[in-house]
Amino acid sequence: MKIQQRPYPVLYPVPVVLVSSLDADGAANISTMAWVGTVASAPPQVAVAIRPHRYCYESIKERGEFVVNIPSEAQLAAVDYCGSVSKTEADKLQATGLTTTAAVEVQPPLIVECPVNLECRVRQVISLGSHDLFIAEIAVVHVDDSLLDDEGFIDFTKARPIAYLGNEYWSVGQRLQRAAFTLGRTIV
Ligand SMILES: Cc1cc2nc3c(=O)[nH]c(=O)nc-3n(C[C@H](O)[C@H](O)[C@H](O)COP(=O)(O)O)c2cc1C
Repeated sequence: MKIQQRPYPVLYPVPVVLVSSLDADGAANISTMAWVGTVASAPPQVAVAIRPHRYCYESIKERGEFVVNIPSEAQLAAVDYCGSVSKTEADKLQATGLTTTAAVEVQPPLIVECPVNLECRVRQVISLGSHDLFIAEIAVVHVDDSLLDDEGFIDFTKARPIAYLGNEYWSVGQRLQRAAFTLGRTIV
């Protein structure tokens, strides 16, 4: 038997990422985001849903740029911290010990400890109610070369990304099988 529930956001698991942004004074910030996803492949785009009262909201809206940093399990403590403390309360870079390096095409920095970084440029902002959806084009992808497989694709079993299940962080579990398109079947 299934019961009906009131509508609420229930689509989990989702990836958890660290979004880096730069405020009007040029100060970098890191904010944890889980309502994030890939939304187009050509041009490649991601979407991040951000509540307007987050400190990073204004920084991203003003500059039209941010970086999606994909953390590994090793960065879990920083992920949880950057998702519960605002820049208004603390310098999260200093508090977590995470380090940054300059991006190539955007102003906000990359987080060095995250093995994958996507430099993003905002194309559209859609107001949805509680959150605004920032749809952004991926300008540059940075990958730790130790993660690449023989075909040059990112081996996410090595990247150890973190999945968010609404109130808990999980590691990615067991491989089930390869996707059809990897065996030569096309997606229509
Ligand atoms: C696992 C996790 C996921 C989160 N995802 C989002 C999100 O998708 N959108 C959002 O606006 N806030 C999200 N938050 C909350 C922000 O990360 C949090 O409010 C943070 O303090 C914002 O930092 P800032 O004010 O310095 O930008 C999330 C928090 C956690 C712990």
